[in-house]
Amino acid sequence: MLTHTDGPRHTELRQLVNRAFTPRAVARLEPYIRSVIRQSLDEALEQGEVDFVDTVALLPVASIAALLGVPQEDWALLLRLTTAAFGSADQDLQTSPSARASAAMAHAQLLLYCQDLMSQRRASPREDIVTSLVEAQDKGLLDEEGAMLFFDLLLLGGNETTRHGAVGSLIALMEHPEQWQRLRADRGLLNTAVGEVLRYVSPSQHVLRRAERDVELHGVRIEAGQDVAIWHFSANRDERAFADADRFDIARAHNPHLALGSGPHYCLGAALATMELRLFLDELCERVGSAVMIEPPVRLASTVISGYKHLRVRLLPA
Ligand code: HEM
Repeated sequence: MLTHTDGPRHTELRQLVNRAFTPRAVARLEPYIRSVIRQSLDEALEQGEVDFVDTVALLPVASIAALLGVPQEDWALLLRLTTAAFGSADQDLQTSPSARASAAMAHAQLLLYCQDLMSQRRASPREDIVTSLVEAQDKGLLDEEGAMLFFDLLLLGGNETTRHGAVGSLIALMEHPEQWQRLRADRGLLNTAVGEVLRYVSPSQHVLRRAERDVELHGVRIEAGQDVAIWHFSANRDERAFADADRFDIARAHNPHLALGSGPHYCLGAALATMELRLFLDELCERVGSAVMIEPPVRLASTVISGYKHLRVRLLPA
């Protein structure tokens, strides 16, 4: 898989789908993603009390589904299957064998769904990622399993990360109402706000690497062959890199955060993720004036995703 490959093969795999993830390509989805966010927020405003983790669930799934080429009538199915297959990072959800079994079943269904969609695209190609995966197989660059795992990776990579980025944004803004009001008054700050939310929330907790050679970093010696975990939350609060690192500042201009990784494996979906979060913040500011916490948020017990299982809130209209 892309994430577990280095060197020329990694470049080759990224090139298969790169075109779909450029800022220009994802910008075409903007009106549609905005409408998904509007609908979710309007429903939440109407309902009164909501679990905000559910409110934003459709946003990442619908966005990536559109790029992959999954027909709209199947998005609800995809949301259900991805939630069951990948939403089980929390130990609570993993202890029961039936939860594990249902996750495995949902995962298998997703792969079969991809297989079906690929045969449809083989018969009638379209401008979407699934068609690119079919073409890659025809050129001998991927086998069928590799193509299915690519589909899987794209669904997984863009799902919980973005969802918890949005949930974490709301919590950060609730905890810093003056910053929320500042953003409402000046949407010119949306881009720096997205960077700050990514830094402050750090939805992806870490990346793992193996050292290729001996290296010394800040007085710590890492030997060739040693496994290293890079904790984003720690790096993103490094006072040597960020002025007043613990402060949430939506106008932070110098923000070299590592929330989307770095180097050759830098997040493939970065342009999509930042657009989703920008539109989310924009629509939140447009429609929601403030929010009240009904219960303390319940954290997801996970070393992979920094997020919440539940966030019960009442949104108040702008
Ligand atoms: C706020 C949302 C997101 C965060 C915080 C995030 C974070 C990351 C990080 C830290 C990495 C680097 C992994 C590593 O170096 O081992 C990464 C890679 C990746 N991301 Fe994202 N991501 C987000 C959204 C997305 C979206 C929307 C997609 C779309 C499909 C996506 C797809 C990927 C893929 C495929 C990779 C692997 C790239 C490679 O190995 O070359 N991500 N992401």
